Amino acid sequence: MESGPPPTLEDLAQRYYSPDDPSLKGAGYLRAYTRLLEPRRQEPLAILELGVSTGASLLSWHDYLPNATIIGIDIEPPPARVVGVARVHVLQGDQADPALLDQAAAIVGRPFDLIIDDASHFGHLTKRSLHYLFPRLLAPGGWYVIEDFGTGFLPHYADGTVYAPPDWTDAQPHTREYRSSQFGMVGIVKQLIDAMMQEVATGARSYLAIERLLIEPNIVFIEKSRQPGAPWPGPMPDKPRLPEPPDDLRVRLDEHAARLAELERVVSRLRRVLAPVLWLRRSLRK
Ligand SMILES: C[S@@+](CC[C@H](N)C(=O)[O-])C[C@H]1O[C@@H](n2cnc3c(N)ncnc32)[C@H](O)[C@@H]1O
Repeated sequence: MESGPPPTLEDLAQRYYSPDDPSLKGAGYLRAYTRLLEPRRQEPLAILELGVSTGASLLSWHDYLPNATIIGIDIEPPPARVVGVARVHVLQGDQADPALLDQAAAIVGRPFDLIIDDASHFGHLTKRSLHYLFPRLLAPGGWYVIEDFGTGFLPHYADGTVYAPPDWTDAQPHTREYRSSQFGMVGIVKQLIDAMMQEVATGARSYLAIERLLIEPNIVFIEKSRQPGAPWPGPMPDKPRLPEPPDDLRVRLDEHAARLAELERVVSRLRRVLAPVLWLRRSLRK
């Protein structure tokens, strides 16, 4: 039992992270998590964190939220200091493995109140986890957090690139499209705006029922709506689906294909007609 005032997240970061730990959650992150969690400190929250590393964050959540159950997932084996800690469970495996994510939810027996993705920081894995967890295993009104989405601005990251500021001279009367980086997790965070706007734009809800996006430097907080979204479209396919051409384009392509076939018929007829003439010319040249 701790005596004195309950620890802040800053106290716990000092307690559990070594100062040179690259995973140390920054001051801005801790402030944002405090805003989110302080009013709910005594609740029996269910928390899932993708990415465990030394276990410092799991132990911080454990001490900050005395009635919460905390599940961690990491591709590496669990660090010794979290093994056997009450209310903390660690599963080993990939952050995007649906069976493992189901296993995590089965431990708490209900959807999570908070899911944090601090694992690979690759766009495709981040998106697969979100696609599976957000609509199915996050409680209505719950929060989904993606940390360090700025890897999309890192040229040495597999799906990142060199940061390029958007062109601010494009504010011209006839400009319709305002371009900006779409690489890696940066692109995914920008796509979330489209998902949130789908109902406003089309009248049809997205399966990602987003109530609110709170985008801060390098971290995004996604609040799940209390209203149900559209039905989950099913598992993410393993190969990207090519977009279907629009109907008018398909008609034009069919017309071009018919013209090409006709052209080929004409050329082969010409070849047959000209063959004796060409043979005669070659023979006379010899
Ligand atoms: C930034 S660290 C996590 C730090 C931890 N959340 C904290 O705040 O102390 C990232 C972790 O993600 C793990 N990881 C990387 N790729 C993964 C994947 N595909 N699935 C699950 N974990 C992964 C790494 O092994 C590493 O321990």
